[in-house]
Amino acid sequence: MKIAIITMLGVAALGVYTLRAQDASKSVWDGIYTDDQAKKGSAAYAEQCASCHGDQLTGGEMAPPLAGGEFLSNWNGLSVGDLFERIRTGMPPANPGKLSREAKAEIVAYLLAFNKFPSSSKDMPSNTEMLKQFRIDAQKPGK
Ligand code: HEC
Repeated sequence: MKIAIITMLGVAALGVYTLRAQDASKSVWDGIYTDDQAKKGSAAYAEQCASCHGDQLTGGEMAPPLAGGEFLSNWNGLSVGDLFERIRTGMPPANPGKLSREAKAEIVAYLLAFNKFPSSSKDMPSNTEMLKQFRIDAQKPGK
């Protein structure tokens, strides 16, 4: 009886631990998009975003850069889900609903590739909650 209760407590504690760990427990450095997605995103970016944010993501007169130090320090510690939502709900400003979630995920993949975060063998999901598990770390953790 005693052992059963102790085991139950142990399982409950493990459950709480697992839930916590899901909260942005992974990093963009773990790999979150495929090369194929980044390639598709590159084409969509050129059509929908480059006119304001620049071919090289350096930004324009009004639009901020989407690569490099300033961009990374803006987003450092936030999640890929936050970046995705920003683009999903607000970009391009004239018509944010124009592109599908999948197409927006591909654009995020392109931005991550351009910022030199590694690709992986698994497609990036277009589900915000799943993307929120991935933290944007400007520097590789532990380096
Ligand atoms: C008509 C010009 C224009 C187009 C087209 C455009 N943007 Fe923007 N974007 C802006 C401006 C201006 C801002 C800054 C003001 C604001 O936040 O709304 C911005 C802000 C952003 C930000 C926030 C940057 C930061 O560090 O805070 C992201 C990310 C972004 N845009 C991504 C995109 C993507 C991806 C596309 C293509 C799907 C796109 N934008 C298309 C003008 C544009």
